[in-house]
Amino acid sequence: MTDSRAPRSQRPRSRPVIALDGPASSGKSSVGAAVAAALGLRFFDSGLLYRALAWAAIDQAVDPSDGPGVAALASSVAVEADEDGRLERVVIDGREVSAEIRTPDVDRVVSAVAGAPAVRATLLVRQRQLVEAGGIVVAGRDIGTVVLPAADVKIWLDASAEERAARRALERGIDPASAAGRAILDDLRRRDRADEGRAIAPARPADDAIHVLTDGNTLDQTVAAVIGAAATRLGATAGGADE
Ligand code: DC
Repeated sequence: MTDSRAPRSQRPRSRPVIALDGPASSGKSSVGAAVAAALGLRFFDSGLLYRALAWAAIDQAVDPSDGPGVAALASSVAVEADEDGRLERVVIDGREVSAEIRTPDVDRVVSAVAGAPAVRATLLVRQRQLVEAGGIVVAGRDIGTVVLPAADVKIWLDASAEERAARRALERGIDPASAAGRAILDDLRRRDRADEGRAIAPARPADDAIHVLTDGNTLDQTVAAVIGAAATRLGATAGGADE
């Protein structure tokens, strides 16, 4: 797989690309958006594309595991930027579905959609088109390994499954120790297994990723850790040391 962008040494340093990968509910969206805002970069959460296709498959009664059938729906999906450059408005066939793609119905089928080679091949091209101008933080599972292997900075954001599930439960007003809280933990573990175990582009840190572990951190602490890691890596490569 080749990287379609210009070699790193020919890209302006003012438009760095930061790959922010990690498991489900590791905080990539909130951390990525805050880091992007602090550094004056755009932000794109690539999970939106997989979620959009999962929603479209349900809507069109296409079997989520029918890869070519689901991939064919990609032409109806558009991702638009808001005034801050956040690519987070998802429109399918002219209808905004930004909220609908985050529902439990979509959670249930999105792993099957993301595991299909035809879907990943189609979305690989879309993701590279969306970020090709650079100056962006891109969140996902395989950004540093497959989508943008020449990214200037690669971060792997992680926390224990218990911590991630507890955060998700509290966001929804659920006691993490309750039956509903334990169901969230079970679902998270199922999604981890699906993302890490799939044959194509499994979720894993790139060899040159900086690991940021967030157990016990506040959002501000994690954002500061990621900005610090990015500054270190950008400083190191600004001197011309192309990897
Ligand atoms: O981060 P998320 O929960 O919104 O991701 C939704 C699904 O898409 C999840 O099953 C993982 C998958 N995904 C992926 O396989 N590769 C990416 N770059 C981003 C998300």
